[in-house]
Amino acid sequence: MKTIKRIGVFTSGGDSPGMNAAVRAVVRTARANDLTVMGIRFGYQGMIKGDFVEMDGSSVSNIIQQGGTILKSARSEEFRTPEGRSKAAENIKNHGIDALVAIGGDGTFQGATKLNEEYGFQIVGIPGTIDNDLSGTDETIGYDTALNTAMDAIDKIRDTADAHERLFLVEVMGREAGFIALETGIGSGAELIILPETLNDLEDIKANLNEVFRAQRRSSLVIVAEGGETGGAFKLGEDLKEDFSKYEMRVCILGHIQRGGSPTARDRVLASRLGYAAVNALIDGHSNAMVGVINNEVKITPIKNTWSKKKSINYELLELVKTLS
Ligand code: F6P
Repeated sequence: MKTIKRIGVFTSGGDSPGMNAAVRAVVRTARANDLTVMGIRFGYQGMIKGDFVEMDGSSVSNIIQQGGTILKSARSEEFRTPEGRSKAAENIKNHGIDALVAIGGDGTFQGATKLNEEYGFQIVGIPGTIDNDLSGTDETIGYDTALNTAMDAIDKIRDTADAHERLFLVEVMGREAGFIALETGIGSGAELIILPETLNDLEDIKANLNEVFRAQRRSSLVIVAEGGETGGAFKLGEDLKEDFSKYEMRVCILGHIQRGGSPTARDRVLASRLGYAAVNALIDGHSNAMVGVINNEVKITPIKNTWSKKKSINYELLELVKTLS
């Protein structure tokens, strides 16, 4: 087994609250094991441009509570090309980096898989995305904070919806997955939750809404996941306008507010555990893997399985929604 001396760490794709806590844990664990650490700024884009900076224990002081990422992030089109990846690989070698910690979501891990396949770099991933759409971990870093942020906003929308006895369609993020929609919907007592996994057909949505209205609600909150075939809350609002004209309808897109803010205690602890686990996994010789927490235990999963195997929503929660809403 090769002994590693210097690791590189980067955050990539959509930032998520708790990424800083993960960077802190990676740097401090590496330093405790006498490894030097290079931070790679702006994810794969910075890897291509050579935007590398040496980090020590004090460079990650006072960041555990901050949202965003001190290492910055980007979505790199250039890295999708063989030329881009070749430049990135050259820079990693030139900086004497033996192993990498990649913090991000499915796009980041697809990139990491490519780097490993093409150049053999030792890489361990840490799941950081608000979408929670990665297999190999019960929750991704940032998901819990995003849920709480969205729920807080939806509670406020409920007040005004109730005052005017209106119907609100509230769109939440999650890309093609309905995790955020499902759990914010339950937490905010939404009357209907529209997920890409369950409800896409317009006629089915109308039938479900009619059920909601039969129950004589004063106000109605419908949570709409951004992904799936509805085309999002604005499009859905247009599609429902005619049939539901007797209700005053409003649309609200929560958007990037869900990505910001100080991470919750749960996200800080998860990020700290996974940052520590990732460096130890590299020291133990793991590669092409992601660290996650399943049933409160740290687990190591082949990185390809994290994005190629679709993570399922909890269908038991859907049953509960039917009864409670
Ligand atoms: O993956 C995180 C996420 O916030 C998704 O929920 C959303 O679809 C996407 O990123 C938005 O990406 P961008 O910030 O690049 O517009």
